[in-house]
Amino acid sequence: AAPVRHEAESSPAVCSGTIDSNWSGFSGAGFCNGTNSTGGYAQFTVTAAAAGSATLGIRFANGTTTARPASLVVNGSAVQSPSFEGTGAWSTWVTKTLTVQVNAGSNTIRLNPTTAGGLPNVDFLDF
Ligand code: GCU
Repeated sequence: AAPVRHEAESSPAVCSGTIDSNWSGFSGAGFCNGTNSTGGYAQFTVTAAAAGSATLGIRFANGTTTARPASLVVNGSAVQSPSFEGTGAWSTWVTKTLTVQVNAGSNTIRLNPTTAGGLPNVDFLDF
């Protein structure tokens, strides 16, 4: 099935920071600018038709030249450590594709930054 887009600025997504719209090119009404700390997470709730492997498309922008690493937490368990590289500008958005295991039904997918810089700006999660 075609992926479903989950905007970072729309409930049930949670952004520990501000919803901003000052950098162009985002989808929807804005993006999640998590606080620049390890507490500045972004969380999504997705629905899977079946248990098993699923593809995530995380759209982000990082206008710095320093990668922003994170812990990818699925249903409360850290499963991967993606790093969100510099994209060249805050208005340059890139989609990172990751594969995770999910349960049938509702799943929470959270990015917890692991360095003091926090997350990149996060636009959406395609699931
Ligand atoms: C700048 C930019 C923000 C970004 C922030 C950061 O302030 O305008 O959109 O979130 O840097 O370093 O995370």
